[in-house]
Amino acid sequence: MAREAFVTLATNDRYCEGALVVAQSLRRHKTRREIVVLITPQVSTICRSRLSVLFDHVIVVDVLDSNDEAHLALLHRPELGVTFTKLHCWRLVQYTKCVFLDADTLVLTNVDELFERNELSASPDAGWPDMFNSGVFVFTPSMETYNDLIKLADTDGSFDGGDQGLLNSYFSEWSTSDTSKRLPFLYNMHSTATYTYSPAFAQYGKDTKIVHFIGFVKPWNHKYDEKTGEVTQVEGPGIHEETLVKQWWKVWAEVQGLEGMRKTTTVEYKGAENPPNYGGQPDSVHEVKKEAQLKLESQKQHLQQWQSSNVDYAGADSFDHIQAKLDTVLQLDDTVNKKS
Ligand code: UDP
Ligand code: GLC
Ligand code: MN
Repeated sequence: MAREAFVTLATNDRYCEGALVVAQSLRRHKTRREIVVLITPQVSTICRSRLSVLFDHVIVVDVLDSNDEAHLALLHRPELGVTFTKLHCWRLVQYTKCVFLDADTLVLTNVDELFERNELSASPDAGWPDMFNSGVFVFTPSMETYNDLIKLADTDGSFDGGDQGLLNSYFSEWSTSDTSKRLPFLYNMHSTATYTYSPAFAQYGKDTKIVHFIGFVKPWNHKYDEKTGEVTQVEGPGIHEETLVKQWWKVWAEVQGLEGMRKTTTVEYKGAENPPNYGGQPDSVHEVKKEAQLKLESQKQHLQQWQSSNVDYAGADSFDHIQAKLDTVLQLDDTVNKKS
């Protein structure tokens, strides 16, 4: 008999909170498919036991990291190299078909009809609609596809440093071939889109099937008042539609009420000077993000100074400094030329 499953991923304890909400949101809408979570060794024992309450299978996989700082910097998400771990989902060959859901998604209705679609079905990415967003996709597990993807990652890398760039390169026909593979946006409604095109959200938002809390700040980083049900959103890039964040917290409250779930506290964000470990990244990765932000800030300031003719002849703009920079660029070019 065909076995089909919803699959999500959590490489650390914070994303586990998201994964729990994904599972509960599928269960409350009575999915008839199995629900699987891929985790990595650093997920704590307590989180594993909570996951086992809601998931049919908790599967430990190795971390796959693109380690591609340059492309991740373009994406402004240095912490997303580990999203290569998602590729393990193709190894779930005990299933004939699966639907992958990012841990920052929330299912609002029964979406089992997604299993009628074929690989690779996905919704357009709001930032570049000729690409698909890899937060929700229908796929067919296959060791051959897995090996091909790993090979492609090895030879060409990913143009965004994460799984989405790689998967779009691999399934490059997505936007031009079979239109049934183009899922409606309602199956992966980016919660930030409600602000970028609010009239569309006002018109169609009520039909949303799956919300995707895309971006650096996630619902679990916000502050929730259990008594009033109010949510105070933290400052940060990409604010989410408040009603949707509240829905996420409602499902989280349900999770907390289940047997076998001990109460957990969420890290509180206290403002820009004291950034949280948001997104649940390990501190070391968080430090990378902070460093990258500081570097970007200092580059911006330098450019502004330069544009207003404040040239730092003795320092950053000195001849020696520029020469050294040119040397690095030329060396890089040389390496690229040799490679190709
Ligand atoms: N993820 C994870 N640990 C991380 C970062 C990401 O487990 O440190 C997984 C998780 O399932 C997450 C997905 O990879 O939902 C993609 O990352 P994210 O949702 O943060 O990216 P976005 O959708 O915001 O671009
Ligand atoms: C995207 C997707 C996410 C993916 C990330 C890195 O924004 O929403 O699922 O992991 O890009 O490629
Ligand atoms: Mn996501």
